[in-house]
Amino acid sequence: MKSTVIRHEQLSPLQHQQLLEIELLSEQKTLVGDAYGAVHTLTARPACDIQGYVLLIEDVPVGFFLLKRRSLLPRWADGPTATLHALMIDRRYQGLGLGRTCVGMLPGLVRGFWPDIEQLMLAVDLGNLPARALYQSLGWQECGDADRTRTGFERRMVLSLG
Ligand SMILES: CC(C)(COP(=O)(O)OP(=O)(O)OC[C@H]1O[C@@H](n2cnc3c(N)ncnc32)[C@H](O)[C@@H]1OP(=O)(O)O)[C@@H](O)C(=O)NCCC(=O)NCCS
Repeated sequence: MKSTVIRHEQLSPLQHQQLLEIELLSEQKTLVGDAYGAVHTLTARPACDIQGYVLLIEDVPVGFFLLKRRSLLPRWADGPTATLHALMIDRRYQGLGLGRTCVGMLPGLVRGFWPDIEQLMLAVDLGNLPARALYQSLGWQECGDADRTRTGFERRMVLSLG
C-alpha cells in the first residue's frame, strides 16, 4: 500500500472532492468534526500561518491534518509553536499505521517549512484514547489543559523539536 503526503493546494479537482468524502465513525465526528469543517479551516488568513496536508493511498485522499502558527495559534499555544489540528484517517483505513505515519513525519515537515518553530502542540479530548496513545508512543507529553469540552477539558500535548 503506497502512501504519500502532499500539501492541500497540490490536490487535483478530483482529489479535492475525494478529500471531502473521508469518513469517520460518528463518535469520532463528535470529537473532531468532519472533512468539510477541516478543509474550511484552510480559508483562515493569513494563509502563510496555516498549512493543510493530505495523505494519499494510490493517489486517493484517505487522511488529513492541519498545522497552524503565529497569529492563527489557538488560545492555549503561543511563542515559536506550531499546532496540529483535524488529524483524521478515513475509518476504512484506520488501524493500518497511517495515523502513525502522519504524526511521525510532523517534525521533519515543520522543520522544512517553518524552520523557526521550536515545538509542536495539540489538544486532544481526554476520552480519545486511541489518539492519546498514538501521540504518547511518538514522544508527545501531556502538559495541562487546553479548551473546555462538554465533558471536561481537552488535554494539551507537546513535542519539543529541540
Ligand atoms: C486517531 C487516528 C488518527 C489514528 O489513526 P490510525 O491510522 O487508525 O492509527 P495507527 O494505525 O497509525 O495506530 C497508531 C497508534 O494509535 C493507537 N491506536 C490506534 N487505534 C487504536 C484503537 N482503536 N484503540 C487504542 N489505540 C489505538 C495505538 O497506540 C496505535 O499504535 P499500535 O498499532 O502500535 O498499537 C484515527 O483513529 C482517527 O482518524 N480518529 C478520528 C479523528 C481523531 O480522533 N483525531 C485525533 C484528534 S486529536
